[in-house]
Amino acid sequence: MQTLAELRSPKLILAPLKGYTDEVFRNAFARHFDGFDSALAPFIPTVKDKRIRPALLRGVQPERNRRLPVVPQIMSNSPDDFIRMACALVAQGHSEVNWNLGCPFPIVAKKSKGSGLLPQPDRIDTFLDQVVPRLPCRLSVKVRLGRKKPDEIYKVLESLNAYPLSEIIVHPRTGIQMYSGRPDLDRFERCLDLSRHPVSYNGDINCFGDFQNLSKRFQSVTRWMIGRGALINPYLPGVIKGTENPADDKVHRFIGFYYDLYRGYQERLSGPGHLLNRMKGFWTYFALTLEGGKKVAKQIHRSKRIHRYETIVSEFFSSEPRWVEPEEGMSVDEVLP
Ligand SMILES: Cc1cc2nc3c(=O)[nH]c(=O)nc-3n(C[C@H](O)[C@H](O)[C@H](O)COP(=O)(O)O)c2cc1C
Repeated sequence: MQTLAELRSPKLILAPLKGYTDEVFRNAFARHFDGFDSALAPFIPTVKDKRIRPALLRGVQPERNRRLPVVPQIMSNSPDDFIRMACALVAQGHSEVNWNLGCPFPIVAKKSKGSGLLPQPDRIDTFLDQVVPRLPCRLSVKVRLGRKKPDEIYKVLESLNAYPLSEIIVHPRTGIQMYSGRPDLDRFERCLDLSRHPVSYNGDINCFGDFQNLSKRFQSVTRWMIGRGALINPYLPGVIKGTENPADDKVHRFIGFYYDLYRGYQERLSGPGHLLNRMKGFWTYFALTLEGGKKVAKQIHRSKRIHRYETIVSEFFSSEPRWVEPEEGMSVDEVLP
């Protein structure tokens, strides 16, 4: 049962977006914007060999994520490998890990990982039977409604009800949907009824109106996860929390954030090719809230050299583009450049 205080102050969690919301992004974001209470890190795959390379875990070390506390996410269907990875994370100082039961990519799902496990509730049972008694920390789960069928979630929730989980984060789409169509809010509502665990909502919160509509409908939900909406509009978590001044010059602060992020990747990534690719990914989303952004994102996607890329971006910022708020009910997938 949630307390009144919890109901009144939503907790906001930055969603895991592999290739985007890594340590560099999370820290740059938290230096410039408010509103998130914590982040779920993009998934770490388990490894069969004995040694877990320290590089695999470096980005989620608590001391490197002080501004925005992070919960690591593990992708695995092997109880032994999962436990080994979780123990390594606990040794780093983590007190919770998250299990990825939602990844939609066929290459993952076909190996019965991520959303590929959702049609197999017995296998989920067996996994948790072996993992939960040996796990030295809390466990949360991030799920979709199913792999192909949106009702698969109901059997999965029955299984999950038998274990002590700290939270179930539901992204109400199927795996094969990827990000098309609208989140299925009726089935999400049913999940709230069926789960004995706290359920968090995730999907298509891109502006304050989206959040208001969802929080009005799902009044028992206290934890909300936002992914692409925060890439498009990094002010959103602060707006939801009421800490943002709507009159602020949004473009100016965004540019400060952008260069902080860019410098972070310049230092971290090896070689201009990696840097260019990483930034191209971000511009797919940045394009949506800057007037003229889509045209610039297309130029950026065509650019082959980092210097050319830098020129395109600096000329665009010098043109003082206007900030454009995302529309309520927007489907990001449908409007990407
Ligand atoms: C590029 C990309 C990478 C993602 N990586 C992960 C991941 O590592 N782990 C995970 O659980 N979900 C991942 N997701 C799913 C998001 O966490 C989230 O569930 C989804 O984007 C819907 O929420 P949103 O509409 O707020 O973005 C990814 C999504 C995208 C678009």
